[in-house]
Amino acid sequence: MKITGTTHKKAAEWVEQVRQLCKPDSVYWCDGSDEENTQLCDMLVEKGTYIRLNPEKRPGCFLARSTPSDVARVEERTFICSEKQEDAGFTNNWKAPAEMKAILNKFLDGCMKGRTMYVIPFCMGPLDSPLAKIGIEITDSAYVVTNMRIMTIMGAEVLKRLEDETQGGGNPKRDGYGDFVPCLHSVGAPLEPGQKDVNWPCNNEEKYICHFPETGEIISYGSGYGGNALLGKKCLALRIATTKARKNGWMAEHMLILGVTDPQGRKSYITGAFPSACGKTNLAMLVPPAPLREKGWKTSIIGDDIAWIWPHEDGTFHAINPENGYFGVAPGTSYKTNPIAMDTIKKNVIFTNVGLTDDGDVWWEGMDGEPPAHAIDWQGNDWTPEKGKEGIKCAHPNSRFTAPAAQCPTLDPEYYNPEGVSISAFLFGGRRATTMPLVYQSRDWKHGVYVGATMGSEMTAAAFGKIGQVRRDPMAMKPFIGYNVGDYWQHWLDMGEKTCACKLPKIFNVNWFRKDAEGHFIWPGYGDNMRVIDWVLRRCRGEVQGVETKLGVSPAYSELDTEGLEGYSEEQFNVNMNLSDSEWQAELESQTELFNNVGDKLPAELESQRQTLIAKFH
Ligand code: GTP
Ligand code: SPV
Ligand code: MN
Repeated sequence: MKITGTTHKKAAEWVEQVRQLCKPDSVYWCDGSDEENTQLCDMLVEKGTYIRLNPEKRPGCFLARSTPSDVARVEERTFICSEKQEDAGFTNNWKAPAEMKAILNKFLDGCMKGRTMYVIPFCMGPLDSPLAKIGIEITDSAYVVTNMRIMTIMGAEVLKRLEDETQGGGNPKRDGYGDFVPCLHSVGAPLEPGQKDVNWPCNNEEKYICHFPETGEIISYGSGYGGNALLGKKCLALRIATTKARKNGWMAEHMLILGVTDPQGRKSYITGAFPSACGKTNLAMLVPPAPLREKGWKTSIIGDDIAWIWPHEDGTFHAINPENGYFGVAPGTSYKTNPIAMDTIKKNVIFTNVGLTDDGDVWWEGMDGEPPAHAIDWQGNDWTPEKGKEGIKCAHPNSRFTAPAAQCPTLDPEYYNPEGVSISAFLFGGRRATTMPLVYQSRDWKHGVYVGATMGSEMTAAAFGKIGQVRRDPMAMKPFIGYNVGDYWQHWLDMGEKTCACKLPKIFNVNWFRKDAEGHFIWPGYGDNMRVIDWVLRRCRGEVQGVETKLGVSPAYSELDTEGLEGYSEEQFNVNMNLSDSEWQAELESQTELFNNVGDKLPAELESQRQTLIAKFH
C-alpha cells in the first residue's frame, strides 16, 4: 500500500517544514510492507552498507559495520532541553530549548542534501493500548528504516490509525490521542553532487541527541547507531515517555517483563530493573533448571528492556512492552547462556558490528564451540584466534542483533494484549561483589522506592571506569529520566497512593553477582534465578514467611527450592545473605553524595528511609 502523504494536518505540515529545512533530494513515505523492506535491503547491499549473510545459514539476515566513532549511545552528547535547568536535574545535560534549536537549525539546514528523506510512521505498544504512543520518525538513513521496521509497529496501518483518530476512531482513551511524537533524525552527512557515499554515513565532529520534554519533540543529529538513531527506543519510550507518564499518572521504566507459570498452573508476571550489562535480556529469556522444569515451572517473555506501567481499573498495576523487537548485545550470547535468544536470531535479523565467518555466517566472542580459524572482524579486517589472544576483538563489545519479538519461541501471547499484564513484583538489582544479599523484600512501597532510588552497580572493565567502583543508577534509569531525578522519585512515591497497598507490586532487591573471598560468583545465576523468583512469588501470595533482617524480609535456606542445585550449600547461602555492619555503614554513607546532588528536590521520605537504616546498622 504505497503512501505519498497524509491527511493529518499537523503531520503534513511538520514533514513539509523539515523537508524545506533539511533539503533532501526526495521524500519517501514508508508503508512498512515486505516489498518495501526487500527493496531497501537490496539497495543497502548494493551500496555496501549491508552484507547479505549466507541464506542457508541465516536466511533474511544482514550484517552492517559502523565506523569506530559511532558504536554506542553517547550519554555526554544527550540533552534534556527544558525551559528551566532544574527541570532536567543533575543526571542530565541541559540546554534551553531556544538555544538548542538555534544550534540544531544551523546543522539541520541542508543536512539531507543528496539523500532521501524517509518518513516512518510508527507505534510503540499495541495500537489499541491506552498507553500506545504514535511517533513519526524522519530520517535520512535507510539502515534506520529497516531497523525501525523490526523494533516498532511501522508503516501504513499506523498512519491510518493516526488519521482515523482525528475522525473519532481508534481508542479515545489513548494517552496522546490524535497526536504523534515528532522524531527528527539525520546522520549529518550531506552529499555534494557526484560525491560517493560511505558505507556508514555519520558526523564525526558533531553529535546531538536532544529531547524537548515540554513540546514532546526529539531531534537527533550526527549518529546512526542504536539508541541514538532508532528514536522510538530510549528517546521516545523512556526519556519523552517519562515526562508524559509523570503528567498522566503512569510509569515508563527500564525494565524487563517476565511471565512465570508455577506447577499449579498459576501465571504471574514480574518486572526487573537492572542497569546495562546486569542481565535483563538473560532474565527475560530464562530457562528454568531441569528439576524445576520437570515440576512444571515455565517462563515466557513480554519484554527485555522497557516497560510502561499504569494503575489498571482492576486495581493492580499493568504493564506493556512498547517494543516490537529486541536490540540485544551479541557477545556472550550462546546456546549455553541464552538458548532462547539463539533461537530468536536464526532469520530476518540485522546484525551490527559482529564478526563475519568465511561461510557467510556471524560470530562473536562467547558463541558456542571453537572460534573460527579465520573471520572478518567488525572493522572489516582479517581476524584469527591468534589475533584474539592479542586482545583484538572479532565483534565489538557493544555489537547487537535486531530481531523481531514474534520470532522468540517463548513470546507470551499476552504480549499483544493492549491492556497489558498484571504485575506481582518489581525486582531491582545491580552488580555488587559485596554488601548486597542475594535477595530481600522491602518492607513496603516507600521503602521499596528508596531501595530502587539508591541502587548502585559496579563499573565493568575499562569501558566504564574503575572496576569495582559503585556508580549510583537510580532504578537503572540514570541516563533515561527525561526530567529531574528528585521529581521522578516523588512520582514513584505518588504512584504508591494509586491503589491499595495489597494490590501494589511488591518490591524486591536481588544481586546475582556477589563474590566469595576467592572472587568467584557465589550464586550460579542464569536459569537458577528461577529458584529466587519462586520464593518471590510465594512471598507475594503470602505462602512463605521468610526471616526478618535489618533490610527487610529474606528467605530462610529451607524456603529456597534447592533440588538439583549442585555446589550451593547452606554455608554458601549464609555468605550470600550476610549483612556486614561495616559494609552497610559505608554503603549508607556513600548515598550521601547522590542525595546531596538531588538537593531541594529530594523527597524527605527517602532521607528518612536512609536514616532508619543508618540507625539499624549503627
Ligand atoms: P543491556 O542490553 O545493555 O541493557 O544489558 P542487559 O541488562 O539486557 O544484560 P544482559 O542480559 O545482556 O547480560 C549482561 C551480562 O551479564 C552478560 O555478560 C551475562 O552473561 C551476565 N549475566 C546475566 N545474568 C547473569 C547471572 O544471573 N549471573 C551472572 N553471574 N552473570 C549474568
Ligand atoms: C542500552 O544501552 O540500554 C540499550 C541499547 O538497550 S540502546 O538502544 O543503544 O540504548
Ligand atoms: Mn537497555
